[in-house]
Parts: sequence; C-alpha cells; structure tokens
Amino acid sequence: MKDFNGKIAVVTGGGTGMGRELVRQLVAQGAHVAMCDLFADAMAETVRLADADGRPQGVRITSHIADVGDEEQMNRFAAEVARDHGVEHINLLINNAGIGGGGSFVLADRAEWDRVFNICWFGVYYSCRAFLPALLKSDEGHIVNTSSANGFWAALMPGVSHTAYSAAKFAVKGFTEALVTDFRNYAPHLKASVVMPGGVGTPIGINSRRVLSGDELTDAARERIRGQLKMFGTKDVEALDDAALEAAEKEFVKRFETMASTTATRAATIILDGVKDERWRILVGDDVTRLDRRVRADPERAYEPNFEAYAPD
Ligand SMILES: NC(=O)c1ccc[n+]([C@@H]2O[C@H](COP(=O)([O-])OP(=O)(O)OC[C@H]3O[C@@H](n4cnc5c(N)ncnc54)[C@H](O)[C@@H]3O)[C@@H](O)[C@H]2O)c1
Repeated sequence: MKDFNGKIAVVTGGGTGMGRELVRQLVAQGAHVAMCDLFADAMAETVRLADADGRPQGVRITSHIADVGDEEQMNRFAAEVARDHGVEHINLLINNAGIGGGGSFVLADRAEWDRVFNICWFGVYYSCRAFLPALLKSDEGHIVNTSSANGFWAALMPGVSHTAYSAAKFAVKGFTEALVTDFRNYAPHLKASVVMPGGVGTPIGINSRRVLSGDELTDAARERIRGQLKMFGTKDVEALDDAALEAAEKEFVKRFETMASTTATRAATIILDGVKDERWRILVGDDVTRLDRRVRADPERAYEPNFEAYAPD
C-alpha cells in the first residue's frame, strides 16, 4: 500500500497515544478512518485534533465504542464500519489497543492477569476474525498488529516480571509472522506487519489503570503500583500507604511519558512508513532496535538481572 488516500482504515484504541496519532496521520493523508475505544471522551478528542489538523474534504472519521476483548462487540464494530462507511471492504486494520498489568504470575490478581491477556491477545485475534472478510474483499489490504519489545523479550526491565503482557505480545508476534506466509499462500493481496515499540511516551499507565480498576485503588492496583516503583528502584514499597501509592503512580506515569525514547507522533509515522515500505517487522525506537540486537546476540543471558537491555551502545 503505497499511499492511504481514499483507503478505508480501522484503528483499535484510537482514543489516545499511538492510536490517536495513527488516526490523525491517516486522516491527514486522506484515509477514511473508523476507530474504536472504550472511552467516548478520548475518541472525541482524537476527532477534534484531526479536524484541527485540517481534515481533507470528504474524509470520514467514525468513532465506535467497542471492547476489543469481546468478540461480539468486535463483530458489531465491523458491521457498524460497513454501515457507516457504506463499504463492504476495508484496506487497513491496525490492531493497536492494549494495556499493561498482570506483572507477576505468582502474585498478580487472576482477574487482572486474564484481562491483560484478553485485551492484548484476544483483542488482536477477535479483530482479525471480525475484519478478515472485509479485508478479503479489498483490492489491497494490510493488517498491522501491535506487539512490543515484550513480544521478543519477556521482562519489563531486567529483573521485573511482566508475564501476562509478554505472553500476549509473544502470541501477537507469532500469529502475525505466521500470517505473512498464510497471506502469501491464500490471500496474496493482503500483507501483515508486526509492530514492536520500545518506550513510547503515551498515557498507557493511566489508561491501564482506568481499564483495569477505574478510580478505585484495588488490591491488584496496589500490587501493580508497587511493581512499578520497584522497577525504578524505590525501597520499602510495602510500607507505603494508599495516598503515597496514588502519588507515586502519578509520578511513575509522568516519568514514563517523558523518559520514553520515542514520541507517539513519531511512532505513528514509523508504523505508517513501515506499511508503505511493506515491512513485515516494524521496530519503533532506537531502544528496541538495540534490545533486539542484544537478545539475538546473546539469548542465554537475556534474563540475567545485569543484562544491559536498554543501555546505550
Ligand atoms: N507506550 C509504550 O511504551 C508501548 C511500548 C510497547 C508496546 N505498546 C503497545 O502499543 C499499543 C498502544 O499503546 P499506547 O502506548 O498508545 O497506549 P494508550 O493507553 O495511550 O492507548 C491505548 C488505547 O487503547 C484503548 N483500549 C484499552 N483497552 C481497550 C479495549 N479493551 N478495547 C478498546 N480499546 C481499548 C485505551 O483506552 C487507549 O485509548 C498497545 O498495544 C501497547 O501495548 C506501547
């Protein structure tokens, strides 16, 4: 797909972060976009920004409330896209929605673990199932599935557990790599790419909390925040009370957004350029590029606590 003008694109998780920037850039390049998210207010802000960028005349944006982890809702979303855009086909499906959490298989709350896996893996799978018929009807189509650095290296940082997310992101990577051959065999007008971002400055921390436990500070949320604090070397996290945990979470989210090596805008450009270049493997950021090299060079050491995962070259 060499350009997006006039194409029909679907983006999951278009309410903030990389999804929002993907919607904006696709619209600016003349694509009609249907996005879904859990939050109407976030999608309304994405539409407002796309309009402020100068939406090309006649370009449609539609917003749909749909939970990617619910197959029925994804099938309804696909039907709404056909209805609202008056088309039987789509050209581009970007499965971007995801959340973090479920760090430790030993300690994490079971419901949280399952929800993270459900969104990050089944969200991609259900979406591909729901939209495959429309992709097959296109004259050219492309599926982009967002995995992560944790799709090939299964720790948040050296020594920091990340089991549910990593399991899901490995699944996304394996599935998408398998689609490359499957499409070549049985649907040669379709392509597939797996996206592996390193640190990208987005509100994923806030959104993950909003999706998993809303405003309530549940036991699972306390555990998650403690894990995040340990990651940044905070000592005695067990002693912190709820107010201190809430404050620490806000600080963590701010640090993550500002420390990340790539902005969401830049990440979206890298992803869309990767689609145009027909790359099946899209690494987003210098940090993940280095990590990829390191893990391949010395896989046996990859989970040693002193593995220099993100150190500069
Ligand atoms: N930010 C990073 O550093 C980073 C790194 C690697 C991979 N990723 C992946 O990139 C993707 C985008 O993340 P982001 O950083 O832009 O996060 P983000 O939180 O800014 O955006 C994710 C969007 O998905 C939505 N969403 C969450 N659960 C959903 C559900 N069940 N159904 C529909 N929408 C849902 C959220 O409301 C949000 O609008 C995710 O898959 C994430 O795992 C992010």
